[in-house]
This record gives sequence, C-alpha cells and structure tokens, in this order.
Amino acid sequence: MMLPYTAIVTTALSYVLIGFFGCIRDAFRKFLELLNATNFDGYAPICFRREDFYVRRMYLRIQDCFGRPISSAPDAWIDVVERYSNDNNKTLKRTTEVIKCLNLGSYNYLGFASADEYCTPRVIESLKKFSPSTCSTRVEAGTTILHNELEECVAKFVGKPAALVFGMGYVSNSAILPALIGKGGLIVSDALNHKSIANGASGSGATVQIFQHNSPSHLDQILREQIAQGHPLTGRPWKKVIVVVEGIYSMEGELCRLPEIITVCKKYKAYTYLDEAHSIGAVGKTGRGVCELLGVDTADVDIMMGTFSKSFGSCGGYIAGSKELVEYLKYTCPAHLYGTSISPPAAQQILSAIQVILGEDDSSRGAQKLAQIRENSNFFRSELKKMGFQVLGDDDSPVMPIMLYNPAKIPAFSRECLKENVAVVTVGSPATPILLARARICISASHTKEDLVKGLEVISRVGDLVGIKYFPPDPKKQQEGIWLKLHY
Ligand SMILES: Cc1ncc(COP(=O)(O)O)c(C=O)c1O
Ligand SMILES: *[C@@H]1O[C@H](CO)[C@@H](O)[C@H](O)[C@H]1NC(C)=O
Ligand SMILES: *[C@@H]1O[C@H](CO)[C@@H](O)[C@H](O)[C@H]1NC(C)=O
Repeated sequence: MMLPYTAIVTTALSYVLIGFFGCIRDAFRKFLELLNATNFDGYAPICFRREDFYVRRMYLRIQDCFGRPISSAPDAWIDVVERYSNDNNKTLKRTTEVIKCLNLGSYNYLGFASADEYCTPRVIESLKKFSPSTCSTRVEAGTTILHNELEECVAKFVGKPAALVFGMGYVSNSAILPALIGKGGLIVSDALNHKSIANGASGSGATVQIFQHNSPSHLDQILREQIAQGHPLTGRPWKKVIVVVEGIYSMEGELCRLPEIITVCKKYKAYTYLDEAHSIGAVGKTGRGVCELLGVDTADVDIMMGTFSKSFGSCGGYIAGSKELVEYLKYTCPAHLYGTSISPPAAQQILSAIQVILGEDDSSRGAQKLAQIRENSNFFRSELKKMGFQVLGDDDSPVMPIMLYNPAKIPAFSRECLKENVAVVTVGSPATPILLARARICISASHTKEDLVKGLEVISRVGDLVGIKYFPPDPKKQQEGIWLKLHY
C-alpha cells in the first residue's frame, strides 16, 4: 500500500501531541487521586491502563461519531437519531428527532436487510411458529427443523458436503479454531485477519505466526521455515498447520489472492481456512463468494467459514467442510454444545434469502441483486478514484475504504457527511493500524443510481473540505508527491 508522506508525518505528530498532553493530564489526575486518601480501597484498577487512556483521551472526544442510534431498518436510507450533549460530548442524550440519511455504512450488500416481499412474510410465519428463541442449545432441544434445513442449504450453497451454523459470526471463528487445533499446532494467519480469528487463534493454544497481508510469497517463506524447524521448544514436527485468510478483507475491501495461497498450502500440506464474511453472497456470478469469483474449486478449501450478518440480512455464522469435520465439530465445539442455537426467525431469513439468490422463489430478483451490487460497487469505486480519493480494495468488492489518516479528520469527515444527510462509518485504531484511519463505504444492491450520485457529490464536497483527496487521478501529479511503501 502507498502512503502519502506528509499525511503520515502529520498523523504521527498528532498522536504524539495527543499522547503527550494526555500523559501530562493523567499525571495531574494521579496526583489529585493520591491526595484523596479515600481512593485507597485496596482494589486494583479494573481497566487496563492503556485502553483506559485511549478511551478517555481519544475515543470519548469523538464518540458522537460512533454508535449512533438508528431508528429504522438498515436499508439504502436510514433514520439516524439526533443526539445532543450538555457536557462537551462526554455524555450524549437522544432527542426524538431523526435525520434521514443515505446509508453508506451497513453490510447490506444484497439489500435483504429491509422488508423483502419473499423473505419477510416467511420470517413472520417462523416467528409465530417457533418464537424468537429456542431457549436451548443445539444438542438439547434447540435444533428445530429450520436448523437442519439451514445447514443442508448452506452446505449446498457454498459447495461443501456439510455445514454447521452458529448464532454469531464472531463465535464461529473464535470457537471453531480452538476446537480444531491446540498445543503443538501452528496457525499461520494473515496480518489483517478479523479480530474473531485472532481471538480464536490465541485462545486455541496453538503457535500463531502472522504472514504479510495477502502475500503468498511471505506465506511460503513462513511455512518453509516453520516446517523445517518444527515446534520451537520440542523440535517435533507440527501436529497440524492451518492457514487462515479472508475472502474480502473487511477493512481493506481487498480480495484474497486465494489461488496462489492454495497452491502454497498444498505444497506444504497445510489446511486452508477461509473466512467469507464479506464475500459470501456478495461476489461471484451466483453469489457463491470468492471461490466462484476467482475460479477456485471449493474442494481445495478445507474449512469454509462465513457469516449471515452481511449479504443475507440476518445474523449468525457457519462452518462448512467435509462430513467428517462437521460431525467432529458437533461433538466437540463448545459453542455448539453449550450455546443457545441461532434464533429461528434469523434462520428462516437466511434460508429465504438463499432461495431468492438461487432463483427458487421463481423470480429473477436474486440475479438482479447480484448484478446490481457489482454494478453499483464498480461505479462508486471508479468515481471515487476519479475524484482523487485514496480508495483501497479491488474491483467487484462492495467494501471501499477511503483513507483519512489524521485523527482530526475522522470526526470531521463523519460529522460533515452527517450534516449533508449521508451516514458513513469511520474507523481508526484498534480496528486499523493507528496511522491508517479511514472511512469505510459499504455499497448495497438496494442503492439506486440517484442514491449513489448523491453520495458521491457529498463525499466529494466533504473530501475537499477535510482535505483527503490524496491521490490525484493524473499520473504525472501522482509522481510528484512523496509516497511511502508499506507492507503490513
Ligand atoms: C471477516 C469477519 N469475520 C467474522 C466477523 C464476525 O461476524 P458477525 O459480525 O456476524 O459476528 C466479521 C464481522 O464483521 C468479519 O468481518
Ligand atoms: C475523592 O474521593 C471521593 C470519594 O471517593 C470522590 O467523590 C472525589 O471525586 C475524589 N476527588 C478527587 C479529586 O479525585
Ligand atoms: C460534539 O459533537 C458535535 C457533533 O455531534 C460536534 O459538532 C462538536 O464539535 C463536538 N464537541 C466537542 C467539544 O468535541
């Protein structure tokens, strides 16, 4: 990734200043606390110091940009509840007013997240029949016929013999990895994998090695070294090696270099684990994700994981793989054995959405949605690039981060867009490296051409105001700027 030199320097300087004055103020605060003897109650501080610092000195100052309450479905337009503060944004209070905004933030790739003529009536029926909760785990009384149908349907859709579903996507990663691998095993994980993968990997007890983001050659190097060395303490061969990647990287909008990565994995007999949270349903001719898009045989991916919280407009996650793998997980995975099963109406929503995608509703709506998300994404991305924004990610990906860099530009971009009725998501550390704050646009099939044009006009105006058109479309001008090259 190329970084504009001046933006990086000023961003680093901003954080140094925030840190410096924050430390002085913290020292002063500590001094006051020391004077106040009543504070010595014998307890250790409940919060970790650094995160506490980050929250107080950075996040809380711009918290109006995050967790904005919404009072509508996450459709192409959403109602953002207006808030006010009487204490410099330390606490925010809701008003009864809403701001109708163009929604460029939700993962509603296929537009299933709002009322749908096929899905919604079926979801309501399932709610009446099964209730919102099974009130039980899968192995007790929590497996309804919907759960069985869903697992069969998901396995068929993603192209694997079997699948297991969970009530949450995050849990699918964080609970499955520890069930698959443990001490003596090796997980080789992409540098930009989602937190749920990182948590699952560290919780598994296996050794974790990170390879440079989306770099098959670095993956090759790590696997070669690790397999030659074996376990660092015992020198024994690794019991099992799993390589974990994502289909579309959620903060980068980039497609995985899956064919090359699979070649490397096969060479070293490492299992591949593919998280398709943002790609399943969203890319590929029939919505079957990156394997379909990049021409990879799903038989070459050992463990396919994905979530239902994006393209399918529901919640939950799945693991798909061989019958043997899924059977094994059913007996061993604690999230399956001890967690309440996915809510039946949520399961019905997924089933119905997949039926629409496959055209089993006897309409061409699914195919239209898939064509629309692709057209919308490619249009929006190319227009943003023409305007001079530094947009990350690949064509066909509905996720498009716009680089902001400076911490002050996070709230500036978010607030100015909101003023013009455009709701955007901005992200900084810890979701991204600290210097690489960005706005993340998620495009939906439910956006009309007018919606997209409005979004582009507003983002262009705000981009000029905030000064984030770092990437002049003219190649001559690009060469004039000083750029740093970054490998994660
Ligand atoms: C790559 C990836 N994996 C897993 C998850 C977790 O899924 P869920 O939000 O459905 O719990 C996310 C969520 O954004 C994600 O981006
Ligand atoms: C001192 O302690 C009391 C009681 O715990 C608290 O209410 C007060 O805010 C503290 N003052 C300072 C300066 O920390
Ligand atoms: C508080 O938030 C509002 C936007 O909601 C913003 O305009 C204002 O500048 C913020 N105030 C401070 C002190 O950061």
